[in-house]
Amino acid sequence: MHNIIIAIDGYSSCGKSTTAKQVAAKLDYTYIDTGAMYRAVTLYFINNRISLTNPKEVARALENIVIEFRREKVGEGVTYLNGLNVEDEIRKLYVANKVSEVSAIADVRHSLVAQQRVMGAKKGVVMDGRDIGTVVFPDAHLKVFMTAEPLIRAERRQIELLAKGETATLDEILANIKKRDFIDTTRNESPLRQAADAVLIDTSYMTFDEQIGAVCLLADQAIARKIANHA
Ligand code: DC
Repeated sequence: MHNIIIAIDGYSSCGKSTTAKQVAAKLDYTYIDTGAMYRAVTLYFINNRISLTNPKEVARALENIVIEFRREKVGEGVTYLNGLNVEDEIRKLYVANKVSEVSAIADVRHSLVAQQRVMGAKKGVVMDGRDIGTVVFPDAHLKVFMTAEPLIRAERRQIELLAKGETATLDEILANIKKRDFIDTTRNESPLRQAADAVLIDTSYMTFDEQIGAVCLLADQAIARKIANHA
């Protein structure tokens, strides 16, 4: 009854997914990581040597891709691509280096946006990505847009990669982040931008707990507004 759609958009490595996951757990909502979907498609394209400039090949490939989030740990969806657990593989740098190019393809976006709308239809979802508040759910009850300084985001990404045993210099990571920001904000198809009615949160100097607290407060207010409107 009081279930709402929470859209969390913003730049990479701002803490979007950590925040979204925790907010979903606190509200007992479903968390949907749309970046994981673009990463899974990218992994499929790499493994199957799909030519990104061949629309027919891309369209055929999209028909053969099934992405699921299976709940293996409490509250955490694990990404499966055609029945295989790809959760770790899609986070690697070679996938990150290609994902912006793949997610700039109109057919890829149309296919994934359609799936995301179905996933969110039941409401009670926290969805994070780049175009959730602008394209996927322009009527979301709460829209949050997260940003942080590029160097701070690179440092966070380096810690994440190290934890997974991947080493990369800060310069390499910063270059990857800046390249992705550029492609994400300048692509023709649904570029990354803040929706007019989104709340901006700069996480540069915030702890995860502060970010989660801020979004939970906004969510409580949005739920209260929904209840008041239906009273
Ligand atoms: O959130 P992430 O870093 O895992 O996202 C990976 C890439 O996917 C990112 O470079 C932009 C793209 N993406 C997108 O274009 N639209 C979304 N809704 C989510 C991610």
